[in-house]
Amino acid sequence: MKNKRAKENVAPPSEEIADGDGAERLEADETRLAAPHEDEGERAFDLSLRPRTLGDFVGQERLKRVLGMSIEAARQRGEVLDHVLFSGPPGLGKTSLAHIIARELGVNLRATSGPAIERAGDLAAIVNDLDGGDVLFIDEIHRLARPVEEVLYPAMEDFELNIVVGKGPGARSMRLAVKPFTLVGATTRSGLLSAPLRDRFGQHYHLDFYRREDLTEIVSRSASLLNVRLAGDGADEIAGRSRGTPRIANRLLRRVRDYAQVNGAAAIAREVALGALELLEIDACGFDRMDRAILAAIIDKFDGGPVGVESLAAAVGEEADTIGEVYEPYLLQEGFVARTARGRVATPRAYAHLGRVRRGALL
Ligand SMILES: Nc1ncnc2c1ncn2[C@@H]1O[C@H](COP(=O)(O)OP(=O)(O)O)[C@@H](O)[C@H]1O
Ligand SMILES: [Mg+2]
Repeated sequence: MKNKRAKENVAPPSEEIADGDGAERLEADETRLAAPHEDEGERAFDLSLRPRTLGDFVGQERLKRVLGMSIEAARQRGEVLDHVLFSGPPGLGKTSLAHIIARELGVNLRATSGPAIERAGDLAAIVNDLDGGDVLFIDEIHRLARPVEEVLYPAMEDFELNIVVGKGPGARSMRLAVKPFTLVGATTRSGLLSAPLRDRFGQHYHLDFYRREDLTEIVSRSASLLNVRLAGDGADEIAGRSRGTPRIANRLLRRVRDYAQVNGAAAIAREVALGALELLEIDACGFDRMDRAILAAIIDKFDGGPVGVESLAAAVGEEADTIGEVYEPYLLQEGFVARTARGRVATPRAYAHLGRVRRGALL
């Protein structure tokens, strides 16, 4: 198969809609920067800063090397790229990488998401419509309905669709060949993926939180794209408070830019960034109000834990899924919360951060 020359990847409008991190929109709250809500401006902003090539994609060095190599090898052999699964918390670059793959291969990308596909036939129609070598991107792939997911098994393995024709005793199953394609799946919860689906991906990459240096580079790049004068120490301060997450780093930059503008600061140095971050209630660890509410609830309402995620969710007025997918991963990685068989517990770091004294702790 020959690769098509890059038709410019104009994303279909459905993509923008499918690109959010959850079906529900949370109420806009300026001080919850980790929250998955996005307004129109935010979406356009995200899109304008999205890295377009592997070279633009900062950090995740090992992932870039391995993925870059497999893209190059597929291109040299003129074969379709093996199906790719990206997992990891929101805002780390999964959607960006799906677009980068298509661009680097010079093929089209068709984007949809697990919850957006209601019937098996809808997915069969999408797969049947693909051109040879195309990328089909399914975001939130762990949320595919089971009958829809089953369409993918023969499609991924043998590039075939099993179509049932007729109803009742006369119904027959027919095989329909489709053109070879690459499925790129993204998920915040790879543990929820069924084994048969997971096994059909030839490559699985887990995205980790970014290092501070990488985030500094990302906000600096964003600032230059936006014509914002961002000093090195300002970039470092924003990077240190963005929960290891590029999307949050960019969101913070946007708010800091507003703050600098209304305060008449010509450039964003550390003091300007700090002033804005304080106003936004982002603390030195990069925690926002919800992070602190979660820690405070475990300590004050559940005596330090263990507490189940459902009870915790009720205590802070947030969806359990959002806590599990958006807030908890960073609190766990930074050692403020620990997961035990009986639920979440607050660690000594959490007590220290909130200035609480542990009951029974030696004074
Ligand atoms: N490695 C990276 N380098 C530069 N910017 C990045 C990187 N990863 C993510 N971003 C920025 O963060 C935003 C969110 O990334 P996205 O791919 O939508 O994350 P996900 O799909 O994992 O939620 C992008 O629009 C981009 O601006
Ligand atoms: Mg995404």
